[in-house]
Amino acid sequence: MVKEGWSALAAWRDVRMGEDGDLWHRAILDPSLLAVVGKVRGLHVLDLGCGNGYLTRRWASEGAAESLGVDATEANLRIARRRETRRRSGARFLRQDAAHLTSLESGRFDLVVAHMSLMDIRDAKNTILEVGRVLRPSGRFVFSISHPCFDVDLRSKWVVERVPYRATVYRSVAGYREEHPVRIPWKISESEVAYTRSYHRPLPTYVGYLRSAGMVVTRLEEPMPQAEAIRKSEQGPFMLEIPLHLVAEAMRVPVSPEALGRLTRRGLRSSVRTRAAGDRRSGSRGRTRGTGSVRRGSRPGS
Ligand SMILES: C[S@@+](CC[C@H](N)C(=O)[O-])C[C@H]1O[C@@H](n2cnc3c(N)ncnc32)[C@H](O)[C@@H]1O
Repeated sequence: MVKEGWSALAAWRDVRMGEDGDLWHRAILDPSLLAVVGKVRGLHVLDLGCGNGYLTRRWASEGAAESLGVDATEANLRIARRRETRRRSGARFLRQDAAHLTSLESGRFDLVVAHMSLMDIRDAKNTILEVGRVLRPSGRFVFSISHPCFDVDLRSKWVVERVPYRATVYRSVAGYREEHPVRIPWKISESEVAYTRSYHRPLPTYVGYLRSAGMVVTRLEEPMPQAEAIRKSEQGPFMLEIPLHLVAEAMRVPVSPEALGRLTRRGLRSSVRTRAAGDRRSGSRGRTRGTGSVRRGSRPGS
């Protein structure tokens, strides 16, 4: 039987995720994501596309002032609330489309996290605009996605070349530049396949949306498989060479998106002007010693 959408996956996924995440979360993704998130004590945290809410509950237990999980799939929220009733952490759960966070007021959160959900959200542009709106100035947006460069859904695959005593791992990728939706099949039982929809977007698309929302990227990580993943997943050792995921942190700069645009454009123009002036002063051409940028970095009086 063929099923469609995240509802069809909710119970199957919850069995695998539990309170600590499935193998790929526990032993590949989460160590990087949690390191970038850092301490949450006292923070107002939004978990966007929270699934069964295991991270929402974790952050509530770690002392977040508020830990709110939102998801568009009611079946996930029922599971998350049931877990919360069984063992209270203080987390709360709300049904919202990430692209229309209508129940959430502007500037409410210190931290928004979207763990492996942004590439499953159809309207990433509006979602990121909404993230920018609900974050306080200098608040952070941390998200993880399938690595757009190496995991282009069904159009990418491992290629392993074996010669005596040595194997070389390649990743073959097609269609990187083309934004496209893809139907992902999940075999949830012997007789059932559930399909969900994901959206491949090249990296500049994400960075452009962040910039429009008044955010700048401050950190990028490419999660390394931990020992358990190397032992238990056939792909684990391959990921030591080529990452399949990306964890990014962006900060909402304390100016409006329009001012950010003006600032970065003016910053770029003025640094180009300064360099050109430095080049003329020193009589040099191109990027040689004595340019404006070298002068700016030197100690006063030297
Ligand atoms: C791969 S799951 C990730 C869940 C969880 N963050 C985790 O890491 O286990 C993607 C989630 O995104 C949710 N989702 C998809 N589109 C959404 C939307 N427009 N708004 C809110 N949630 C959405 C799905 O319901 C699903 O729970």
